[in-house]
Amino acid sequence: MSLRIGDTAPDFSAETTTGPIRFHDWIGNDWAFFFSHPADFTPVCTTEMGRTAQLAAQFASRGVKPIGLSTDTVAEHLKWIDDVNDTQKTTLRFPIVADADLKIAKLYDMIHPSESETAAVRSVFTIDPDKKIRLTMTYPMNVGRNFDEILRVIDALQTGDKYKIATPADWIPGQKVIIPPSVTDADATIAFPQGYDTIRSYLRTVKL
Ligand code: BEZ
Repeated sequence: MSLRIGDTAPDFSAETTTGPIRFHDWIGNDWAFFFSHPADFTPVCTTEMGRTAQLAAQFASRGVKPIGLSTDTVAEHLKWIDDVNDTQKTTLRFPIVADADLKIAKLYDMIHPSESETAAVRSVFTIDPDKKIRLTMTYPMNVGRNFDEILRVIDALQTGDKYKIATPADWIPGQKVIIPPSVTDADATIAFPQGYDTIRSYLRTVKL
C-alpha cells in the first residue's frame, strides 16, 4: 500500500554505509530527507548524491538529516561513494541504506514495476521529528531531482509549523505568506500585529 502525507513513516532496521540503524532512532528529534535512487554507479544518481553531499550545511541548518537508499550492498555503496566524491568534488558523509533484498524499497513503495522490478524509482519522503510523512515526491529514473525545491519545501513546511500559515505558489523564504481561511480576522489581528493584507476574504497575506 502506498504511503501518504500524515502517515507514520514505517520503521525499519538496515545496514548503511555508516553502520546499522533503526530508522526512527536514527531520525531522533530531527527531520529526515529519505530518498531512493535506482542504482550505484549510474550518472543521474551520482549527481544527486553529490548535490546532497554539497548541501550538507543547508540540510543541517534546517535540522534535516539526509539518508539515501538503493537496492545495492554496503560494499557497492562504499566503492561508489569514492566515485561520487571524486567526480562531484565533495565529501559524502550521510548514510546510504543497503537494500539488496528490496525489503525497505517495497515497504516504502519505491519499486514501480512498470519501470523496474528490482530498482527503486526516485522517491522522496520528508519526515518530521514525530516520524510523520510530511511530503512525498516521485521522479522517474531518468530525471534528477531539483534540490532547490527540496530545500524550499522544507522551509515552507517548517515555516508553516512555526507560524501556522500556508505558503503561496513559488514562495521562497522572505516573501509574504498566506493566513489560512480557518483563522478568523479577529485571531489574525492578534497573531499578526504587524498587519496583513486582505485581497479577498479567503486570501489574506502577511509578511512575517
Ligand atoms: C541514472 O542514474 O543515470 C539512471 C539510473 C537508472 C536508470 C536510468 C538512469
